[in-house]
Amino acid sequence: MTHPATDSMGPAAEAALGRIKDRYPKADPLALIPGIDPSKIPVHIAMIMDGNGRWAQERGLPRIKGHHSGAKNVQVMLEACAAIGVEVLTLYSFSTENWSRPEDEVQGLMEMCVAYCEHQREALKSNNVKVRVLGRREGMPKQALSALDSLVEATSQCTGITMCLAVNYGGRDEIVDAARSLAAKAVSGEIDPDQIDAAMFADSLTTKGLPDPDLLIRTGGDFRVSNYLLWQISYAEIMVTDVQWPDFSQEEFYGMIRRFAARSRRFGNINSES
Ligand code: IPE
Ligand code: IPE
Ligand code: MG
Repeated sequence: MTHPATDSMGPAAEAALGRIKDRYPKADPLALIPGIDPSKIPVHIAMIMDGNGRWAQERGLPRIKGHHSGAKNVQVMLEACAAIGVEVLTLYSFSTENWSRPEDEVQGLMEMCVAYCEHQREALKSNNVKVRVLGRREGMPKQALSALDSLVEATSQCTGITMCLAVNYGGRDEIVDAARSLAAKAVSGEIDPDQIDAAMFADSLTTKGLPDPDLLIRTGGDFRVSNYLLWQISYAEIMVTDVQWPDFSQEEFYGMIRRFAARSRRFGNINSES
């Protein structure tokens, strides 16, 4: 199907639209974000899903209710991303610092993780979503780990959007783990320390093989990165909204994509990428 707007598109935009359509036959970015240049749609979006607790407190509800509402919004955002051709959505689900929260909240979040994996497995599979997990395994409850492992296994053949769940994730720990593994390889003689470069380092991170995020979105209004993807967000565009995660809508998200497409990404050069 050709869209009327394709008539006025340049070759880069047409090629990008072709790539999107090959990957997701049902995607229609031009219908959803009229006038968007398909080559300016982010390939990888990283999301800091913040504000669940405040969302609940504002309604006189326990914080865990906010987490439940937030989990429901994941499906909305996954569909919104796939519909415009985003290839990777990385969701900050539980940070290494979140263990310091009250025990009942931590336990509630881990139980929610298990329930999410079990209840969403079939839907994710039928929507062709490939799940990947980022973060340290050590320290995670066994049940949560096995639920995450079986979700990854169940969706391993999916070819649509990749959803990375960052659980027990901390950017500093991830960098430390990469440094340790490279140091061990150097000591054993498998590599020469002089061979270590940015590409080899990136391949030692849990995001190995993924493109760096183009866009980092934080809901909940705080302008900070909270130990998220410290290596990978070097050149990500950053957008913050005051809206709390459970209320973050497809409409606002598409508004951000439009703003992202209008930004000039220079990567240290003087001209914007074309
Ligand atoms: C983000 O929401 C979800 C997790 C950290 C698990 P919060 O729970 O941090 O919500 P606020 O920031 O307290 O409102
Ligand atoms: C970041 O939110 C972590 C997640 C969304 C999982 P936090 O609520 O933990 O971040 P801070 O404490 O406000 O920096
Ligand atoms: Mg928070």
